Amino acid sequence: MSRFLIKNQYSLRRKAFIFAARFLLLIKSFIHKIIYPVKKLFFSIVLIAVLVLQPACTKAPQPVTAENGMVVSTSSYASKVGVEVLKKGGNAIDAAVAVGFALAVTYPSAGNLGGGGFMVIHLADGKNITIDYREKAPLSAHRDMYLNEAGEFVPELSQFGTTSAGVPGSVAGLIYALENYGTLSLTEVIQPAIDLAKNGWRLEQRDSIYFSNTIPLFSRYPSSMKVFTKNGEPYRTGDLFVQADLAWTLEQIKENGRDGFYKGKVAELLVAQVGSLGGYITLEDLEKYQPVEREPITGNYRGYDLISMPPPSSGGITLVQMLNVLENYDLKNMLRGSSKYIHHIAEAMKYAYSDRTYHLGDADFYPVPKDQLISKEYAKAIFEKIESANNIAVPFSEIKSLEVSPIHESTETTHYSVYDSYGNAVSTTTTINSSFGSGIVVEGAGFLLNNEMDDFSGKPGVMNQFGLLGTEANSIQPEKRMLSSMTPTIILKDGNPFIVIGSPGGSQIITTVLQVILNCIDFSMNIREAIEAPRIHHQWIPDSIFYEQKALSLEVKQQLIEMGYLFWDMDIKSRIIGIAEGIMIDQKNKIIYGASDPRGGGLAAGY
Ligand code: DON
Repeated sequence: MSRFLIKNQYSLRRKAFIFAARFLLLIKSFIHKIIYPVKKLFFSIVLIAVLVLQPACTKAPQPVTAENGMVVSTSSYASKVGVEVLKKGGNAIDAAVAVGFALAVTYPSAGNLGGGGFMVIHLADGKNITIDYREKAPLSAHRDMYLNEAGEFVPELSQFGTTSAGVPGSVAGLIYALENYGTLSLTEVIQPAIDLAKNGWRLEQRDSIYFSNTIPLFSRYPSSMKVFTKNGEPYRTGDLFVQADLAWTLEQIKENGRDGFYKGKVAELLVAQVGSLGGYITLEDLEKYQPVEREPITGNYRGYDLISMPPPSSGGITLVQMLNVLENYDLKNMLRGSSKYIHHIAEAMKYAYSDRTYHLGDADFYPVPKDQLISKEYAKAIFEKIESANNIAVPFSEIKSLEVSPIHESTETTHYSVYDSYGNAVSTTTTINSSFGSGIVVEGAGFLLNNEMDDFSGKPGVMNQFGLLGTEANSIQPEKRMLSSMTPTIILKDGNPFIVIGSPGGSQIITTVLQVILNCIDFSMNIREAIEAPRIHHQWIPDSIFYEQKALSLEVKQQLIEMGYLFWDMDIKSRIIGIAEGIMIDQKNKIIYGASDPRGGGLAAGY
C-alpha cells in the first residue's frame, strides 16, 4: 500500500474520527441543553408525584364520619336501630338502650336479656355516671359451691348448665338508664327489637357460622336447639331468623317494665328452666335484683381525662394503673411495635394484672384499695421496678407467684359506643360471659342464660376460663357480683368527649382498650387505625405474651426472647385480641368519627 494511500487513509480516518467526536460533542451538548433538563424535569415530576401521592396511597384507613351522631356496635341491625333513635331526637342514652335490646335479638352470642353489663355515661352538662347491672350470685350461693367432695374445683359446674348462671341484670339496668337519663318511652326504644325478633332478620355468614359451631353445646338442651337450628339442621347464611318467644318476652317488658322480666310469667319460666337443671336462681333472687349507680374510676393520661368502670369491674382500675405507669415513658418517640415498646407495655400489664388478682372484687363485699392502685405515686414505684430490671422481663414469680394452667380464649361479650348531637356519650359493654353464655335458652321465653358465675374465683389459685386467678377479694358470696374485665370508657379532652371505647375479650378486654388509647393519644392515629392495629396481651400469669400474628415481626420477637419473654403461640393464625367499637370526636371541627373493629364485622352508623 502506497504511503499516500496510507496517509490519505489515515487522514480520512482522522477526519472521520474528528467528525464523530464533534458529532458526539454536539449530541452531548444537545443532551445537556435539551434532553437533560427534560429528563431532570421528568424525574422531578415523578419525585413530586411520588411525594404527593405516597401519603394518599399509604393513607391510613379512614373511619366513618358524621356531623350529628354516631352508633358503633358489632351488629349492623343494632347500629341502625340506634341511629334511627338519634335521628328522631332521642339522646345517646335512648339510643344505647335501644341498641342493648336490639343486640339481644341480632347478636345472641353476647347481646342479651339474660346477662349483665356496665354503662358509662358522660352527660353534656359535664356529669359522669356509671351504671352497674352486672349479674349477682344467687342467695343460695356459697364460697365452695363449685368444689367436689375432695375439695377440687369443678369447672363443668361454674361454666356449664344452669348452675353457672348468675341473676341477670341487663333488663333492670337498661330500664334504669332509660328512666333516669333517657328522654323517650320504653315502648319507643324496645319496639325495634320486638320487630326484629317477630319479623326476623337475615343471618350473615358470621352468624350462621357462630350458630353451627355452637350446635354441640345447644344439643344438650332441646329449648336451645329449637331456637338456634331449623329442626336440628344448621341455619344457613341468608336465612330469615325469627324468634317468636323472644319477641313475646320483649313484649312483656314493654307492657310491664322491669316487672315484665323479674316477676310474672317470664320470671316463672326462667326459674323453672334453672330448677329443672339443678341451678340456683329463685323468684326471690329475681325480685331482689337492683342495678347500682357507682362513682366512676377517673384518671388522667397526658392531659386527657379518663372516665371508666369501677368494681365489680376490674377494667377502670387496671386501665388507669397501666396508663399511669406508661405515662413515665416517652412512648411517642418509640417505634410502635418495637421490642422496647412491647417491653414497656407488657411489664405495665403484668404488674396491673397481678394487682387485679390480689385486690379486686366487688367493693360492696371487699375493701378494694382503689385509691392506692390508681395513684400516680404507686405507678411511679412500679415504673421504677421495671426500670431497675434494665430491659429484662421480670419473671411473674418475682411479681407474685401462683399455680399456672392453660387458658381458653373466647371473644364474646359485646361493646357499643354512642354519641349524640347534644354532646352526650355512652359507652356500654354487656355479656353473658362465654359465647352464647351457658347455651341454655329459657323454654318459652327465647333468651339465653349467662354462665357468669365462672368469673368468680371458685377456688384460690385455680384459673377460670380466661386463665384469670382470684383470691378472697373475688370469692363467692350470696348477692355478690363477680369480678369483670369489661372496660367501657370515655376519654375527655378539655372536659368534652374525645374517645368512646370498649371491647369484649375476657381478660384481654383491658389491654385492648389500653392499646387503642395509646394508639390515639401517643401515636395520633385516627380511631379506625387505632382499632385495626394489631395487639398484644400479657396478664402476668401465664407468663407469656399473647399476640396477634401481625403484632410482632420475627426480629422483634427474637429481641424479646433475648429480653426474657415467653410467647403464647398456640392458635396464633386465628387469634384475635378484642373486638373494639369506638368513636372519636373532633370537637373543634364538629366531626364525629366511628369505627367498628373488622375483627368482629359490626357497623359504625352515623348521620
Ligand atoms: O365480665 C367479664 O370480664 C367476662 N365475663 C367477659 C367475657 C368476655 O368478654 C367473653 N369474651 N371473651
